Amino acid sequence: MKNLIHTRREFVKRSTLAAGSLMTLPLASQAGFFNSSADDTIKVALIGCGGRGTGAAMQALLTKQNVKLVAMADAFRDRLDDCYKNLMQEDLSEWTGMHGNVKARVAVPEENKFVGFEAYKKAIPLADVVILTTPPGFRPIHFEEAVKLGKHVFMEKPVATDPAGIKRVLDIAQLAKQKKLNVVVGLQRHYQNSYRELYKRMKDGMIGDIVSAQAWWNNEGVWVNMRQPGQTEMEYQMRNWYYFNWLCGDHITEQHIHNIDVINWFKGAYPVKAQGMGGREVRKGKEFGEIFDHHYVEFQYADGTILNSQCRHIKGTMSKVDEQIVGTKGNIFCGAMKMTDRKGNTLFQYDKEKENNPYQTEHDELFAAIAKREFVFSDAENGAKSTMTSILGRMATYSGNVVEWDAALNSGINIMPAKFEWDATPPTLPDANGFYPIAVPGVTKYFS
Ligand SMILES: NC(=O)c1ccc[n+]([C@@H]2O[C@H](COP(=O)([O-])OP(=O)(O)OC[C@H]3O[C@@H](n4cnc5c(N)ncnc54)[C@H](O)[C@@H]3O)[C@@H](O)[C@H]2O)c1
Repeated sequence: MKNLIHTRREFVKRSTLAAGSLMTLPLASQAGFFNSSADDTIKVALIGCGGRGTGAAMQALLTKQNVKLVAMADAFRDRLDDCYKNLMQEDLSEWTGMHGNVKARVAVPEENKFVGFEAYKKAIPLADVVILTTPPGFRPIHFEEAVKLGKHVFMEKPVATDPAGIKRVLDIAQLAKQKKLNVVVGLQRHYQNSYRELYKRMKDGMIGDIVSAQAWWNNEGVWVNMRQPGQTEMEYQMRNWYYFNWLCGDHITEQHIHNIDVINWFKGAYPVKAQGMGGREVRKGKEFGEIFDHHYVEFQYADGTILNSQCRHIKGTMSKVDEQIVGTKGNIFCGAMKMTDRKGNTLFQYDKEKENNPYQTEHDELFAAIAKREFVFSDAENGAKSTMTSILGRMATYSGNVVEWDAALNSGINIMPAKFEWDATPPTLPDANGFYPIAVPGVTKYFS
């Protein structure tokens, strides 16, 4: 991607220029908007130093502003150390597609590296902007702390794993708005050129009114971390978090949210109910915890529009991650970046050469707004409602029944542990043979 290649020299030059222009602003105007030090530095804390956290931190540090990573927090010391090592690499091209490095912008002394469930409480106060990239179960807790302390936020999707968490994020989203704190959620298609161009033309009426849609996240699935000797049940679940709903939300929430969110975005609405089917066809081992390996959901919007959504984690089956939208006058094919009329004639084809790296753009735009003291981004409400849509889908496939949005959102269902300690009891436990309870459609009930 041409526009992402920077040499280190270019990078240093750009950051010096950015620093220079900011230095001309009166310090008083900076103080009100971000709690910076005496200069123009925008200080960042990273909460959740895994794969995405490392990438997001690099992207934040690769922006034009004078950004410094000043604190890191992770549940585990080894994850934090790996992340730190990767941030200090000479060449980040494997991580970010950009040559050069960010190590001069990593200023995290040993005393600013925090470990454990409470680590976030020590890291967040040290920053102006926080990056929240733990497993999604913790997101409401960390988001609340960040906003209460007046920090701008980049947080990954999903933003919760249960309706109680969604409610909490919706409340905090309002507080963030009142405090004029920028919040970007890592639903990066909103920051991707092709999607933005398709959306613009759809709003201009190119395909008429949306009447149905399809969304897919079908592939082979993800990593597994096997149980190790000496681990408590809590540590095991934290290490193998993908397979436990309180941490992950099932893959309909953890990954398929991206596609569901695109349909909500284009439709300008959220479904009022859902029904569907799902199960575990190949995910039989105990290491797969409690999540399904496939879900098929029919989401219905208030005007009767149907979204057919499918997600599958099964090796050897068709791979497809995409969205398609049907309107009264034409269709949108998101993956092909194209719009057609009802007969299939092309109305618009986005030039693939102009595609950007949306992971970088979301940080570029966020940090540019912060440096200009502008309040531009309030993604949390949509992030919460799209996460809720995926949870609604999970409730529909787990129960095999129709689940209404209002009933689900207001259900108060909370699947998080009561206590976060290494020897505390997680909400789901294995039987004597190490297998976890799995939802059974027709038996699993939510509102009885
Ligand atoms: N937008 C995208 O395309 C995209 C891509 C990848 C991941 N993600 C999202 O990023 C998040 C993290 O995913 P990942 O792939 O980096 O997982 P990961 O396992 O690589 O990283 C998660 C990190 O969080 C740490 N952690 C767990 N609980 C914590 C706590 N309470 N406090 C502090 N640290 C804690 C873990 O130890 C781990 O280092 C997920 O929500 C995922 O959906 C988004």
